[in-house]
Amino acid sequence: MAKTKIAVLVSGGGTNLQALIDAQSRGEIPSGEIVLVISNKADAYALERAAQAGIPGVVITKKGCGGDQEAFEDAIMAQLAACDIDLIVLAGFMAILSQRFTDTYPKRILNVHPSLIPSFCGEGFYGLRVHQAALDKGVQVTGATVHFVNEIPDGGEIILQKAVEIEDGDTPEILQRRVMEQAEWILLPRAVEIVSEKLMNT
Ligand code: GAR
Repeated sequence: MAKTKIAVLVSGGGTNLQALIDAQSRGEIPSGEIVLVISNKADAYALERAAQAGIPGVVITKKGCGGDQEAFEDAIMAQLAACDIDLIVLAGFMAILSQRFTDTYPKRILNVHPSLIPSFCGEGFYGLRVHQAALDKGVQVTGATVHFVNEIPDGGEIILQKAVEIEDGDTPEILQRRVMEQAEWILLPRAVEIVSEKLMNT
């Protein structure tokens, strides 16, 4: 049976992409294969990581599409179709996708979010802002969530979650790193294998 073809969408450093690449090379994603990386930022370091792993990387920016959301999404969808993509993984992808986009791929888009959803999620909660909000609230436990993407930002079905302790003296940067190491980089490859395996058998 053919492996699930995976596209990873990125915007920045790409440590979650790296976790997927590393898991794949350790044989931990036997049901899927990362065949494409799409970045909406031309200078994303994630593109370098893709190149080093021999995975084609493509830049599609909203600006390059005349600032038009529909044209931006059409360009992404055309690229996904050209590569026969079965599963889309948002790994630090910092652009909102419309319902028109999410409805096109039901239960075929995954996202990793750096909190225990439903805390600190939804519009405006991304990257370090999520960790800043957790520290401002004074919660003692945070974590990460991998979920399916639907039309509600961070509102789709939860696949995996893992808790991470907040420690005295944490800054958003220190907490972000701990949540990545103890949760995101572990959960995302696992979730990708779980969903790839299901898609392979449908
Ligand atoms: C990660 O912490 C990811 O969970 C978060 O951005 C970071 C990207 O890092 N995503 C969101 O906040 C999405 N709402 P990376 O580029 O090194 O993977």
